[in-house]
Amino acid sequence: MEAKPGQERDAHDGAAPFAAPLPAPREVAGFALHEALLDRALQARLLEEVREVLRAAPLRRYTVPGGRRMSVGMSAAGALGWMSDGAGYRYAPAQPDGRPWPAIPPLALEVWKAVSGVPRLPDSCLVNHYDPDARMGMHSDRDEACLDWPVVSISLGDDGQLRVGGTERGGRTQAIWLRSGDVLVMSGAARLAYHGLTRLRPGTSTLMRAPGRVNLTLRIAGP
Ligand code: SIN
Ligand code: FE2
Repeated sequence: MEAKPGQERDAHDGAAPFAAPLPAPREVAGFALHEALLDRALQARLLEEVREVLRAAPLRRYTVPGGRRMSVGMSAAGALGWMSDGAGYRYAPAQPDGRPWPAIPPLALEVWKAVSGVPRLPDSCLVNHYDPDARMGMHSDRDEACLDWPVVSISLGDDGQLRVGGTERGGRTQAIWLRSGDVLVMSGAARLAYHGLTRLRPGTSTLMRAPGRVNLTLRIAGP
């Protein structure tokens, strides 16, 4: 998770981060993929902002209903954070230790504004940290109060393979390799598509000192 020395600051500070209009995204498995939306300097800036989130809300490995412990370390920012405990999983206004979730990283909000296509801002930003062996099982994101809003995913660090299926469990899947700086918009007919993070290619990014991957998902989780 450590940014390498000298990458904490970049020439974009204070300036509008993305060129307008954005290049058209590539459609993959019903999602809109903005490849390399964040250049290296913006990736480093966002990683710094994520580290600030993690100082206020440490990564936790939750146990999901059924008793299995997730291999992915999770944190969150915003008014609501996703968490899981003996009572089940849900969006909650506070961390398991009672502290509020920290603010959503400002650069992540800029990404949302640039790609989401909706006027409302997200109230939740989930942070997933994958060690080289961590995986996220196939699931459909349905815990949000309204399932019509998009989910915007930002990837940092090593390449991660996302498998995407249909809106029913099982069936054919397609693989998308997500690289550092890629932004994926899950909306429309694919908003409820099953997806999971099946593997990493450790060492493909030099953004972080240790091999691994960080994924942020921005959501409108509340009513
Ligand atoms: C998720 O679906 O919650 C995470 C996806 C990813 O890590 O790219
Ligand atoms: Fe998801």
